[in-house]
Amino acid sequence: MPCSGDIKQKNFVVAICGASGALYGLRLLKALLERNTRIYLIISRAGHQVLAHETGYSGEPFHTFLADRGVIISDGSELIPIDENDFFTPPASGSFRHDGMIICPCTMGTLAAVASGTAGNLIHRAADVCLKEKRPLILVPRETPLSTLHMENMLKAARAGATILPAMPSFYGKPASIEDLADTVIARILDHLDVAHDLVKPWGLP
Ligand SMILES: Cc1cc2nc3c(=O)[nH]c(=O)nc-3n(C[C@H](O)[C@H](O)[C@H](O)COP(=O)(O)O)c2cc1C
Repeated sequence: MPCSGDIKQKNFVVAICGASGALYGLRLLKALLERNTRIYLIISRAGHQVLAHETGYSGEPFHTFLADRGVIISDGSELIPIDENDFFTPPASGSFRHDGMIICPCTMGTLAAVASGTAGNLIHRAADVCLKEKRPLILVPRETPLSTLHMENMLKAARAGATILPAMPSFYGKPASIEDLADTVIARILDHLDVAHDLVKPWGLP
């Protein structure tokens, strides 16, 4: 259930990379846009390709694509898509104060770029800015199995200040659909962003 009236508008940067699990990105956008947020959305080139492969996205305006999938942008919310190579936009600069960035899903390639501090595209740069400005940065890596390089990069990113929140859904709440399963991950992201939600019932509560 949306709960838009009870919190002030927050600003987030959301990046969708070319890892399997585009659904996670869509569920995250749905959850945030129903809850009084302004979202700066960056989708990598590979992210567009995997979105097309996994969800049928065919390049239409993203607002239309989301609306066709039942994503309601609440009155207090706004979606601002940005090109992954456009550095003339707010997330590229530390002077733009926001409430956090989430890379969901995050590829091993983007993880490596974040861990090594390169800024080859706007996703890498915006993440680098989060780390230097001590802003929340949540990486939602998706790969299996993991090489030692992947694990070292996660450790490096975590030591630099990122939260590693893998796309590892939980089953103990007995999710009834693939969307509910994905939302077990989204719920933990919202917890870490301090965004109130009722996507899943906290364990042990009635
Ligand atoms: C269908 C598909 C699924 C993929 N799944 C993953 C994945 O789960 N994890 C990953 O690290 N890379 C995955 N890749 C590879 C990335 O898309 C590729 O490394 C790309 O260069 C990443 O670019 P980006 O980080 O800028 O999005 C996948 C590619 C395709 C076509």
